Amino acid sequence: MTHLTPVEGNSRMIRMDADEIQELEAYANTISAAVEEELDTLLPNVDGNEEDRLFEAMRYSVFAGGKRVRPLLIMATNEIMGGNKKRAMRVAAAMECLHTYSLIHDDLPCMDDDDLRRGKPTCHIQFDEATAVLAGDALLTMTFEILSDVDTHPDPNVRMRLVALFAEAAGARGMVGGQMMDMLAEQHGKKDFDQGALARLQRKKTGALFSASCEAALILNGGTRDEFHRFTSYAKNLGLAFQMVDDVLDEVGDEAKLGKRTKKDAGRGKATFARLLGVDGASRQAEFLVQQAVDYLRPFHNKARVLDLLARFVVCRTH
Ligand code: IPE
Ligand code: IPE
Ligand code: MG
Ligand code: MG
Ligand code: MG
Repeated sequence: MTHLTPVEGNSRMIRMDADEIQELEAYANTISAAVEEELDTLLPNVDGNEEDRLFEAMRYSVFAGGKRVRPLLIMATNEIMGGNKKRAMRVAAAMECLHTYSLIHDDLPCMDDDDLRRGKPTCHIQFDEATAVLAGDALLTMTFEILSDVDTHPDPNVRMRLVALFAEAAGARGMVGGQMMDMLAEQHGKKDFDQGALARLQRKKTGALFSASCEAALILNGGTRDEFHRFTSYAKNLGLAFQMVDDVLDEVGDEAKLGKRTKKDAGRGKATFARLLGVDGASRQAEFLVQQAVDYLRPFHNKARVLDLLARFVVCRTH
């Protein structure tokens, strides 16, 4: 279940009232339940074989909770495009596999060395490091197994485009490249990362999967150039704002609500906007980006309501 609560204090221009929170929460809960059902049928089952430990670890991390924001982006964009729900749900499940892999590896001792994720012990704590590495590997490869299956789309060209999109977003020029910059920043200290470099880091590390989520829904539905431009601009701004708020919440958020440790980034010397601009400065930047994000969707009027609510939630969120 997803619980969304309004924030007091760290939001200046953008607010959400209780009805809007409830509306988004209802939509998000429906998507979460449906994507979890899909994942349950796709993930391998523990069945008394030698690999059971791997299957158990994959399921443990995928079903530990999570806001399912990227599936929401895919399903809401697909709905605006009038697309087939079943196909989009498979793409949403693939994206959640990819994202969960990135979290399992992000938490490893050689990366951020975290022991709490989605309110539970991290994969390597619950199991062991080798199992966590392998569970991540298996989820990453499963992403492409799902996308390349004929059930995702009958047209092989569409499936190829989805595979290429996810590979680029996840790989060296996308999320993994951003994670490399993130680790290097730890070693070099903040003076090497000005606002521009930091925005580039965060666009890759987090923005790439946000953007790919909207793009995937457009590929499924034959989006126009203008639609690609509008949705990717929305998603890139939103992804950057999302990571800025993640960094702010690391400083001022509540561990129990977030389901992960807080006050860790500064100690590890992470390059974050919270550190560069301060908590207030980073929060204002995030609001500015969200304002920009929603502006791109104006031509869709009320059809883009969920994406508008989601964008505002990103800066109002406490978890
Ligand atoms: C956490 O992502 C990693 C970042 C990109 C900041 P989410 O905040 O979407 O994590 P879950 O899926 O809800 O656990
Ligand atoms: C991780 O960013 C983004 C990924 C690509 C996984 P963080 O390291 O800030 O994410 P959290 O705070 O551990 O969720
Ligand atoms: Mg990290
Ligand atoms: Mg981390
Ligand atoms: Mg973080």
